[in-house]
Amino acid sequence: MKIAIGSDHAGFKLKETVKEFLKTSGIEVIDFGTHSEESADYPDFAFPVAEAVAKKEFDFGILICGTGIGMSITANKVAGIRAALCNDLFTANCSKEHNDANVLCMGGRIVGEGLAKAIVQTWLERKFQGGRHERRVKKIEEYETKAHSN
Ligand code: RB5
Repeated sequence: MKIAIGSDHAGFKLKETVKEFLKTSGIEVIDFGTHSEESADYPDFAFPVAEAVAKKEFDFGILICGTGIGMSITANKVAGIRAALCNDLFTANCSKEHNDANVLCMGGRIVGEGLAKAIVQTWLERKFQGGRHERRVKKIEEYETKAHSN
């Protein structure tokens, strides 16, 4: 499994923690920055990560800012991206099983290291359940296709 990860300054510390956690779990991680706690703009990291995931260069993306909101708003502008803001385990579960999320967003000012690792582990383990959920995800894809052909 190959994961693209990115953060702004507010998510930097948690990104480093998550990156190490993924590496020790044997997962390949490519870090799209930022590389310090110096102020940085979340779209500068969300767009490259989301585009790389949309192009299928990675299996999944993980984006961390202060709340996870800016990252999720930005990533969801990229066609094919289903970015889910999950600062708890229940939404981490549902975002995979129901929404087939391909980008996980978290808030570095919201979740601690232990919870973040549990969210990431759960999110990576869960599988899309298909069925009625597939019909709903397809409607999003159909909208994207129509919107982009206009
Ligand atoms: C940065 O201060 C903060 O606004 C950003 O990390 C994020 O939380 C935005 O959604």
